[in-house]
Order: sequence, then structure tokens, then C-alpha cells
Amino acid sequence: MIRLGIIVGSTRPGRKAEAVARWVHGIANKRGDAEIEVVDIEEFKLPLLDEPIPPSRGQYNNQHTKVWAAKIDSFDAYVFVTPEYNHGTSGALKNAIDYLYREWNNKAAGFVGYGGAGGVRAVEQLRQVVGELQIADVRAQVMLSLFTDFENFTIFKPGPNQEKSVNAMLDQVIAWGGALQSLRKK
Ligand SMILES: Cc1cc2nc3c(=O)[nH]c(=O)nc-3n(C[C@H](O)[C@H](O)[C@H](O)COP(=O)(O)O)c2cc1C
Repeated sequence: MIRLGIIVGSTRPGRKAEAVARWVHGIANKRGDAEIEVVDIEEFKLPLLDEPIPPSRGQYNNQHTKVWAAKIDSFDAYVFVTPEYNHGTSGALKNAIDYLYREWNNKAAGFVGYGGAGGVRAVEQLRQVVGELQIADVRAQVMLSLFTDFENFTIFKPGPNQEKSVNAMLDQVIAWGGALQSLRKK
């Protein structure tokens, strides 16, 4: 079975990202076709990127980077759970992504976005970013609306079809995550 990391893309106090990530985790766990772990970037306490050598060289100086690198390296695929901030992803998630390079390479990823317009602009921006890291991003994505999937724009109550859209995205991520394992072994 592949290992799939569900990345919590907000560190904001009162964030919605954690509830969304836990919901995705529950759906993914029911399938039984991947080993699933929620990865909360908040717990890694990453400062704004403070590595003197570019991540593509793989020479990490700081302990927080080494811990983060080991965690990300342990997965075959990722689901990025992202809020939309000013039509992009969160600074915290972009910073966490920027810290590493090889650990992301030749892995698969899917996206769960949320916002006034389903987080689609944040996900579009993330697709550009992960392309540079040689992450294969799948087509299916989950678009959660602040208007219809959150009660009073606050309490997460996903609509009836959203579980189906999570599974459609997971079908693709888990398939690609498995396929890319052989490439990485070469
Ligand atoms: C700095 C900031 C900028 C935002 N910009 C947008 C935006 O451009 N589009 C949108 O749909 N929602 C926007 N929102 C609303 C967020 O999608 C909403 O607050 C969401 O709950 C943030 O995710 P989080 O709670 O997990 O941090 C913004 C929120 C913040 C805090």
C-alpha cells in the first residue's frame, strides 16, 4: 500500500483546514487502499525559510528542516488541503513546500480547496508550484464552498456530493502514487 500524507495547509488560529483534513482522512481511511496520515504543518514550527543553501541541493542545516524533510520523504503521495488567501494558497503552506525539493520529486498530489469560490484559485496557483517540484498533480479536485459546505461560514458541514468528489480525487492520487514508486526506485 502506498503512504498518503494529507497536508493541513493553514496554521491560522481558528483555521478551518484541520476539520477539512480530518474529514478527508476519515474518507480515505474507509477505502483501505493506502496508509493515511494527517500532516499538520503547524506542528513543525517552520520559520520563514531560513536555510542558506537552496533546497534543490539537499544540504539542510537546521533541525526543523531535517524533521520536516524526513516526514515528507516518507510518503508516496499527498493531498494538499488549502485555504484561499487573496486568490492564492496560504503563505504557511507555500513556505513549507519551499523548504524541500528531492523529498517531493516524482510523487503524486491531489488538492482539496475551500473558499468563497471553492478555493479554485488557490489550487490553480499550487498546481504551478508543484510542477516545479516534479509532483504529478491529478485532475480531480475537491472544491468546498464557504457558502454551502460551512454553516454560517464557520462550522464545516460538507454537502452530500462532496464525499464522492474526495473519492474521485483519491482514486487518481492513489493510482499515480503507486505508479510513480517504480520510477523512484530506478
Ligand atoms: C488573509 C485572508 C485572505 C483571504 N482571501 C480570500 C480570497 O481571496 N478568496 C476566498 O475565497 N476567501 C478568502 N479568504 C477567506 C478564507 O477562505 C476563509 O477565511 C478560510 O476559512 C481560511 O482558511 P483557514 O480557516 O483554514 O485558515 C481569505 C481569508 C484570509 C484570512
